[in-house]
Amino acid sequence: MNSEVPSLPRLARLKGCTAIVTGAGSLGEGFGTGKAIALLFASEGARVALVDLDRDRAEETRALIAAEGGESVVVQGSVVDADDCARIVAESVAALGSLDILVNNVGMGAGSGKLEEIDPAIWQRGVNLNLASAFLMTRAAVPHLLAGAGKAVINIASVAGMRAHGNASYGPAKAAMIQFTRETAVMYGADGLRANVIAPGHIMTPLVEKFSAPTARSNRQRVGALSAVEGNAWDIAYAALFLASAEARFVSGVCLPVDGGVTMIGPLAAFERMTG
Ligand SMILES: NC(=O)c1ccc[n+]([C@@H]2O[C@H](COP(=O)([O-])OP(=O)(O)OC[C@H]3O[C@@H](n4cnc5c(N)ncnc54)[C@H](O)[C@@H]3O)[C@@H](O)[C@H]2O)c1
Repeated sequence: MNSEVPSLPRLARLKGCTAIVTGAGSLGEGFGTGKAIALLFASEGARVALVDLDRDRAEETRALIAAEGGESVVVQGSVVDADDCARIVAESVAALGSLDILVNNVGMGAGSGKLEEIDPAIWQRGVNLNLASAFLMTRAAVPHLLAGAGKAVINIASVAGMRAHGNASYGPAKAAMIQFTRETAVMYGADGLRANVIAPGHIMTPLVEKFSAPTARSNRQRVGALSAVEGNAWDIAYAALFLASAEARFVSGVCLPVDGGVTMIGPLAAFERMTG
């Protein structure tokens, strides 16, 4: 598991910036993408608000950032609740003094099976976690982002929003999140705000490790073009760093797959890898 903190760069690519990262804690040992993004942003000079439903998980991230000499603040709350999102953003801005970057990272699967087997409340939970959360947080953050210097929104979708996997809630919500990002990019582009979305492929995180059988883990890796490489949270964090930084000042409305080529490979080539 990717539980060790890699040697992090100190290039100060986000020096002087402030950022909110949602889902900045991690389930169990190791690094989910939110935790890795928060730590990498802080190591590059950003001051970060660590938003999580679970205060203890976010506190672990804060302690890691402090140990690396970075600055962060924990803001506990739920990103699927409109009032909570308003409070989360207000508390974050009060603590940080401004807001340059918003990373909407919270998301997870909710329910599987055929349509008639799915409880509508569970389906709605998937839509809330994977789509409404980005709307509610961005809506609350926009006035502050427009007043800031960075003006960057980064959403974390999934390759499940680009290719069908037979799931009624997660994939459709992630597909809508990709389009929501483009709509945001157009809505505020004239104000200088950039909105981009990352589509992670098969990434080994504590959540995935907890729920994956060993064969599923190797299948997730082998099916991509880069079949010898297992993606981890740091691959997503480095993509988010680029999109958050001034290096991406002319990049907006983009969906960047970080997936080892799993959305690019042809079905037959993928099949031959799995069976060959
Ligand atoms: N791991 C993968 O293979 C993979 C693939 C594609 C996309 N993704 C996406 O990457 C993102 C991160 O996934 P991850 O598994 O690394 O998770 P993560 O470890 O980054 O985030 C998990 C954290 O989110 C918090 N959280 C859950 N619900 C919340 C809520 N309502 N409000 C605030 N915090 C909440 C949890 O307490 C937990 O600490 C998700 O959007 C996921 O859909 C992951």
